[in-house]
Amino acid sequence: MTERRVLLIVGGGVAAYKALELTRLFRKAGVGVRPILTDAGARFVTPLSLSALAEDKVHQDLFGLTDEAHMGHIELSRSADLVVVAPATADLMAKAANGLAGDLASTTLLATDKPVLMAPAMNVRMWLHPATRRNAARLEADGVAMIGPDEGAMACGEFGPGRMAEPDAIFAAAMAMLAPRPRPLAGKHVLVTAGPTAEPIDPVRMITNRSSGKQGYAIAEAAAALGARVTLVTGPTALRTPPGVSRVDVETALQMLTACREALPVDAAVCVAAVADWRPEEAFETKLKKTGEGPPTLRLVENPDILATLAANSPLRPKLVVGFAAETNDLEANARAKLAKKGCDWVVANDVSAEGIMGGDENEVVLVYPQGTDRWPRVSKAEVARRLAARIAEDLA
Ligand code: C5P
Repeated sequence: MTERRVLLIVGGGVAAYKALELTRLFRKAGVGVRPILTDAGARFVTPLSLSALAEDKVHQDLFGLTDEAHMGHIELSRSADLVVVAPATADLMAKAANGLAGDLASTTLLATDKPVLMAPAMNVRMWLHPATRRNAARLEADGVAMIGPDEGAMACGEFGPGRMAEPDAIFAAAMAMLAPRPRPLAGKHVLVTAGPTAEPIDPVRMITNRSSGKQGYAIAEAAAALGARVTLVTGPTALRTPPGVSRVDVETALQMLTACREALPVDAAVCVAAVADWRPEEAFETKLKKTGEGPPTLRLVENPDILATLAANSPLRPKLVVGFAAETNDLEANARAKLAKKGCDWVVANDVSAEGIMGGDENEVVLVYPQGTDRWPRVSKAEVARRLAARIAEDLA
């Protein structure tokens, strides 16, 4: 096996001393470390210590071409399997979030085509400042993995989130990112619907529901992580697009159906969206006003069933069609009835009457299919998604 290599960017913060321990952990595990030390970082740790522990040259200067060991920043940015930024200061995060490239560290982050793991470390007020919140959200949306910060007493005397994660935690996260990933869904196209739909009544009012979209987004993310090409057709949510997923935003059930049809052919379709059963027969063109003649009458018409449409017999029917069922009672019996009614292959049923499931981060599901039933324990929505994606991969194999 060829040696795995980390490009370690050490920013300027008190936590920089922990980057030395992190370097030692990597070397002990046989992982190569190529360090980049920012000017501010060099105020906290010396190039000599970093170089001694990394057993490699420390890169500091964007324009250090006179140095015979110097590597161009593009080459440097591609020379590793993973880029780790520890500590990731507010300044480094701001630069990376905005694509600035004025020094070696930021240029490398802009030029790299490798996964990036950041371990933020800064004063609690800096971490909580809206600018840093924006930058962190932007970096995550760009696919940067974050670890920490931890909460605790800080060198500046304050208390709160801002302490860099401990070296062993950063090391473990980095090793997980370096591990070769199985990609059993490579070459497969998976369609996921998620979120609520919003059916207009007039230009300012609509019929919608409380679906957060979390479970559907997690499934899209998990399928992409297994190598699938994923199309996520989503109603309005407040969620970021999972890395590697192509997202189609819609509002109404009719738009969702059209977007799903346009995504075909797919190998598997997973319908998680909470599609409104009915929509107003017509959306008023101008805002409804109180007239003194009492409330208006809204006539509703039924929306198409997207799941049943995708599951219907046709040359474009996906090999696997999965529906979801939010139930409050008789979970399994209702799910089995839904399986038959919708013509899909599996139904994933969850008990939405249980505390903390609707809109929460956990789920407890039962997977119902013609030959049997699997009961999964209560786990995070991300874990439900990983299990389901793995099952889909088995089924499509
Ligand atoms: O019939 P019910 O709404 O309980 O079924 C839920 C399942 O059907 C979910 O998988 C949901 O995404 C899907 N569905 C759909 N289109 C509809 C209604 C439900 O795809 N109009």
